[in-house]
Amino acid sequence: QPLGSLGLNDGVPLTIAHRGDPAAAPENTLPAFEAALRSGAEVLELDLRMTADEQVVIFHDELLDRTTNAVGPLADRTLAELRTLDAGSWYGSAWAGTSIPTFDEFLPLLQRSEARALIELKGLWTVDALRPIIAGIYRYGVQDRVVLASFELPTLIELWREAPSLHRAVIVRRLPDDPVDFAASVGASTVVTSLRSFRVDPDAAQMLQRSGLTVIVYTLNRGDLWQQALDLGVDGVVTDAPRRLATVHAVH
Ligand code: G3P
Ligand code: CA
Repeated sequence: QPLGSLGLNDGVPLTIAHRGDPAAAPENTLPAFEAALRSGAEVLELDLRMTADEQVVIFHDELLDRTTNAVGPLADRTLAELRTLDAGSWYGSAWAGTSIPTFDEFLPLLQRSEARALIELKGLWTVDALRPIIAGIYRYGVQDRVVLASFELPTLIELWREAPSLHRAVIVRRLPDDPVDFAASVGASTVVTSLRSFRVDPDAAQMLQRSGLTVIVYTLNRGDLWQQALDLGVDGVVTDAPRRLATVHAVH
């Protein structure tokens, strides 16, 4: 069933592995996604960025500094340059030589699993830049198992125009006053937001669900916070500890 129209998952939120399983392997690398599949998470979250030669890679930060052996903006490097970088040593010497994956490398991994994917597009994307992502999703036949997410409203609108059948998620730090209208304005079927969004109005999650929206909270790594998400009745929880969260959920 598509993530975008899941509704409540038997009362237990989906475990969404943030950048793969960053507790087991360096974030946003193929080993992290393989580990996330083994963790019991139902959904893999990943971040996409574009290289200087317009190739799509999986990477979170704007800068290479934190998670590679290079510095400066990723967008200034070609794919060939990025492929020579070490995206594992920062995490541990056993991971030396792990490379930044391309989106095309991720797709077969997703295809042969039963997992779904929450694919975040970092920054602004033109239609031309989005086309290869959309084409890859259809080429691997995973179109019903992916949700394309962004904080950037223009990017969501471009996606809506170019691939209206794909699910979209709008990510917001805090829910706006009228979150249903807000989601509708970018054609989103899913809203991803912080737990804090529900402090003022704990019924907001269920109100969104009654309007047909899937509600996901990010990024919760402690049992007491997972409990709060369960109590709110959200559809999914993004976590850096998917193995622990999947275990907690299995006993509910
Ligand atoms: O799923 C939403 C979450 O991933 C957004 O925050 O900074 O981890 O990409 P960030
Ligand atoms: Ca993300």
